[in-house]
Order: sequence, then C-alpha cells, then structure tokens
Amino acid sequence: MKKVITVMIMVFSIVTLVGCGSATNNTPPAESSATDTATVQKTENRILKDSSDSSSENSTSDSGSKILVAYFSRAGENYNVGTVEKGNTQIMAEMIAEETGGTLFKVETVTPYPSSYDECTDVAKQEQNDNARPELKEAVDDFDDYDTIILGFPIWWGDMPMAMYTFLESYDFSGKTVLPFNTHEGSGEAGTTGKIQSALPQATALEGLAVQGKTAQEDRNDTMTTIQKWLSQNEIN
Ligand SMILES: Cc1cc2nc3c(=O)[nH]c(=O)nc-3n(C[C@H](O)[C@H](O)[C@H](O)COP(=O)(O)O)c2cc1C
Repeated sequence: MKKVITVMIMVFSIVTLVGCGSATNNTPPAESSATDTATVQKTENRILKDSSDSSSENSTSDSGSKILVAYFSRAGENYNVGTVEKGNTQIMAEMIAEETGGTLFKVETVTPYPSSYDECTDVAKQEQNDNARPELKEAVDDFDDYDTIILGFPIWWGDMPMAMYTFLESYDFSGKTVLPFNTHEGSGEAGTTGKIQSALPQATALEGLAVQGKTAQEDRNDTMTTIQKWLSQNEIN
C-alpha cells in the first residue's frame, strides 16, 4: 500500500512539474468526482472526412468515414478500482465502437503486463526509461482502408504506454485523422495529443477525451453520455 501511494505521488508530482496535466484534471483521485473528471476537452474538433470506401458497412460512420477503434487496456489490479475483469479503457473503447460502428482492435503485447498493480508500474517505468517498443501480438487487417483512427489508452507515468508508440510506428498514418481518448486517475490528457501529433506528423491528431478510469469502470451511464456528446461534437455520429 505504501508503495502504491508512493507511486501515485510520484506520478502526480511528475505531471505537475512538467505541466502535462490540465489544471482541472490535476486533482488527486481522492478529490475527483465522476462528473468533474469525465470532461470533453475540446468542443470544436471536427471530422469532416469523406470516403468513397463503403466496403464495410459496420465501420463506416454517418459522415462516410471508415473508423478503427484501436485501444490498449489492462485488466487485473489497478489504482482506485480494485481488481477488474475488463480494463477501464476497454470499457470505453467498446462503447465507442458500439456508437460509431467502428472496428474494434485491441493493442496487445507479446509479453503480457503483470496483473499486480505494483509490478506493472515497475515494468511500465522501466519501459519508459528505456524508450522501449514492446512487440505487439497482432496487426490490424487492411489498415489503409481506415480514414479515422480513434485511439484509446490509459495514462501510464504521465504518457501513453510504450506499446502505443509501437502501434503508431507500425502503420502509415498519412492523411488519417486520429482522435485520442484516455482513462487516467488525475493526469487528464497529459499532453498525449501533442505526443501523438509529433509521432505522426503526416496525420491530423485532434485533441481528445479524458475520463477518469474509476468513472469508466463504475459509472457507465455517465461515461456513455460523455462519449455520445464527444462523438457528436466531432461529427462522428
Ligand atoms: C503502470 C501504471 C501507471 C499509471 N500512471 C498514471 C499516471 O501517470 N497518471 C494517472 O493519472 N494515472 C496513472 N495510472 C492509472 C491509470 O491511468 C488508470 O487506472 C487507467 O484508467 C487504467 O486504464 P486501463 O484499465 O484501461 O488499463 C497508472 C496506472 C498504471 C497501471
């Protein structure tokens, strides 16, 4: 327990020091509420992509854009939610796929992460220090067919899990629109939109949605309402 608290204090100290978290989302988890952390971060995002490709009815939005919902998420013991069967980000990814008709793809590493929270934080920190690119299990079929990539991940040590960098570097994102969402326990968006845009200069990364993991896990109606609002603001639905 002492280690958990130490880790989270370090996390929030790092985020505060480097200024990655937004002021409103930088509240320690104990003071966060379901409504104040499930925030739509930007309202003026627009996805006006058009596509003549209608080969898959299920993954084409009303705007005509073919959508991939690619996410990383970890089940097991986690901060603030106990031990869960389904990760917080996965819950959101499934809702987003359901709402958009997008194709769901889980980013999974060949070597799974420990289900113990403490052990996982150690592995994740080491990977971040090493700037690692963990090997991924599977590839997306026909990646080129998608116009819009909705990208989901938890915040790990004030950043995306390193496996997301492997994912971003595995495909040609030229001309694609990337709409990120994340779950976190206080760091908010943590500057990840900028990091995605830097990793993908040939794509357009829009500012995304940050939801507290505990809210996604335990207040699904509220989470779904937030997602619907966000998708509508981005003209996805
Ligand atoms: C390795 C690790 C590092 C984390 N680092 C942060 C962090 O820097 N900031 C934060 O707000 N939450 C942090 N968290 C909490 C997760 O972002 C949060 O629990 C998230 O909802 C987990 O999503 P998942 O269940 O989809 O994996 C961390 C969790 C883990 C396991």
